[in-house]
Amino acid sequence: MKEIDVSAVSINPMTAIAKQWMLITAGTEETGYNTMTASWGHLGSVWGHGGGLPTAAVYVRPQRYTKQFVDREPLFTLCFFEGKKQALAYLGSHSGRDGDKVAAAGLTPAFGEGYTYFEEASLVLVCRKLYRAPLVEEGFLDKAIVEDCYPERDFHDLYIGEIVKVLVKE
Ligand SMILES: Cc1cc2nc3c(=O)[nH]c(=O)nc-3n(C[C@H](O)[C@H](O)[C@H](O)COP(=O)(O)O)c2cc1C
Repeated sequence: MKEIDVSAVSINPMTAIAKQWMLITAGTEETGYNTMTASWGHLGSVWGHGGGLPTAAVYVRPQRYTKQFVDREPLFTLCFFEGKKQALAYLGSHSGRDGDKVAAAGLTPAFGEGYTYFEEASLVLVCRKLYRAPLVEEGFLDKAIVEDCYPERDFHDLYIGEIVKVLVKE
């Protein structure tokens, strides 16, 4: 893969995240890593000056095994793929607690300094954690979302990461 500037990222997040999905991955070769599929998240800009920091926001429910890795590590990656939806469906319906789901999904981990991504990815965003906060019931102005998405009150944690490196397939 080759590194590009974040300003050259050309995906449409409205379709890339919501329709094509992405993998949230945290951990390293040495300490272990885990990954999960996500279709909720945002790409944009916040904080900093002169346009703000390039950032990604993701939402992880407390019961995800991946959450332990995201909480432990300073970095996480977001991997986007072309034509790997079956693998992402698998990684989004099996837990890394129960075995090597990455091998079962047919993906190949690749390791950078402090982060893990996948050789098959077309785009990798390496993110440095800036902010974590649990979503809280009182925060929902539209209470219908609580009933719709959180009947068990298992509210996601929101993570905002600065996009510190972008890799694309050569
Ligand atoms: C299409 C799709 C999108 C998903 N999006 C999210 C998400 O944004 N946040 C989340 O917490 N879980 C999401 N999930 C569920 C996790 O990917 C799933 O529970 C996964 O098995 C967790 O794996 P883990 O226990 O190894 O972390 C999604 C699942 C699928 C199939």
